[in-house]
Amino acid sequence: MKILFFIAALSLLALTLPLAIASDPSPLQDFCVGVNSPAAGVFVNGKFCKDPRAVSGDDFFFSGLNRAGNTNNGVGSNVTAVNVNNLGGLNTLGISLVRIDYGPNGQNPPHTHPRATEVLVVQQGTLLVGFISSNQDGNRLFAKTLNVGDVFVFPVGLIHFQFNLGQTPAVAIAALSSQNPGVITVANSIFGSSPDIDANVLARAFQMDVNAVRNLQGRF
Ligand SMILES: *[C@@H]1O[C@H](CO)[C@@H](O)[C@H](O)[C@H]1NC(C)=O
Repeated sequence: MKILFFIAALSLLALTLPLAIASDPSPLQDFCVGVNSPAAGVFVNGKFCKDPRAVSGDDFFFSGLNRAGNTNNGVGSNVTAVNVNNLGGLNTLGISLVRIDYGPNGQNPPHTHPRATEVLVVQQGTLLVGFISSNQDGNRLFAKTLNVGDVFVFPVGLIHFQFNLGQTPAVAIAALSSQNPGVITVANSIFGSSPDIDANVLARAFQMDVNAVRNLQGRF
């Protein structure tokens, strides 16, 4: 009887013990190559922490998101980012912000944030937005037309875009779930890498003529 009670108590304990979940920390930058000696130069995964006694309100402050970025460029948009690189107080907090300006018919071209989900709200204009799910999900396009005040979420890592349907400028603000979300613009990354990816690789991947690939590589 005593032993039964003991076993019952033990199994109850096992059930109520908190689960130990071990995992690697999430990367806060593109890469952080390990070195064996600090003499080789040390960077942490993220940023160093400022001495708390030297911290002031200014460390949590950024000014200027009222100003429009210049959209006079190839894609007709401009992203003004507020992340740990220009607002140090965001370090370790897992959040950041962007303002996106779109010229008439401008677009924020297909891109992905390797470290962040993004939630966007339209401040001005009308945007066609969308993201594509992964191969496993069949590369489905999820798209919506957004007007002022409308909100849309782009899940972490998925390729997404915004396109200004209007003949006037548009503006959106977006929050991202990383202090340093990173951005990979598909066209620039694939056709504008340095050095170039062998054109034969891209010709096969995109099922297109190798000269067309070289033409694209010349543009980025
Ligand atoms: C975005 O706008 C800023 C401010 O006008 C400008 O300095 C920057 O060159 C623009 N970036 C692009 C990619 O056009």
